[in-house]
Amino acid sequence: MYLPKNCRVITVGDGDLSFSRALLAHVSPNNLIASTYDSESVLRNKYKHNALDDLLNAGVAVFHDIDITNLESVKQLPQEQADIVIFNHPLVPTQKTYAQYQKERNKTANLLNRNLLYHFIKHSFDVLLSSSGERLCYITTKSVKPYSHWHIETSLTPLVLTPLVLTPLVTASSDSKNSVEFLGSEAFNVSLFKNYLIRNVDRDKCVKHEASDIYVYSDNNEHNIKSRLTSFQYDQEGYCPLCRKGPFANQADWELHKNTRIHKAQWQYHLDWQQHKSDL
Ligand SMILES: C[S@@+](CC[C@H](N)C(=O)[O-])C[C@H]1O[C@@H](n2cnc3c(N)ncnc32)[C@H](O)[C@@H]1O
Repeated sequence: MYLPKNCRVITVGDGDLSFSRALLAHVSPNNLIASTYDSESVLRNKYKHNALDDLLNAGVAVFHDIDITNLESVKQLPQEQADIVIFNHPLVPTQKTYAQYQKERNKTANLLNRNLLYHFIKHSFDVLLSSSGERLCYITTKSVKPYSHWHIETSLTPLVLTPLVLTPLVTASSDSKNSVEFLGSEAFNVSLFKNYLIRNVDRDKCVKHEASDIYVYSDNNEHNIKSRLTSFQYDQEGYCPLCRKGPFANQADWELHKNTRIHKAQWQYHLDWQQHKSDL
């Protein structure tokens, strides 16, 4: 994880705060702001062993009840102060209040998780990142399903997918100048983050550390971080960016792929997301 000297970092949705505590090996306490979605009492009750007191004792500013999808909530965090905003293993809770259940009952988990990440990127760039800083956002997640079905390389930025053509499948929208782009990914090296536990979103359980990647976003397409990242290969001519497949040899191959069950499912996720975004 690229964490340059003296960088100012905000963590979002950090379950038991053990990732923020582990970050202190790389970021000084006065340059770190940690945040949780849960309130302080929910956090203390949910996770018997948590890192809140360690962070407070180290002098780190910790904010609770921060819903990254809600602009007013995000504005409780210091604004335009960060170089890097990090959300590790984002996942919408499955336990909901009745009001949330009513609001979200027609939405799939795929849609709700995309919505979470879309607002994470939007609010980080609109509110949290300093205009003169690094201007980077990181999402760490596993690259297997269901996470891979969120299409996080293409669905969170102004890139649009052009339907039913072989070349190209992905084109930038006309307002792409200075817009936020997915720059690429790198493997998450858990050995750099001592005592970091990935927490279950709903319960006092841990999720096993498995191969995960850090997905990096910026509105500076020339950022030097790109030299360490693997760029997304499947937005090129003849590939399917949704299924991450290709190259297809010809139109007939592409038609065959489009008729597969897996592609149809990915395409439906994509259409549902486009509809949701147009309703935002
Ligand atoms: C699987 S847990 C991972 C927790 C922690 N980031 C880690 O890496 O251990 C998913 C986290 O996403 C957070 N989350 C879900 N919805 C959120 C939202 N709207 N705003 C901020 N965080 C959210 C949850 O509170 C939960 O801590």
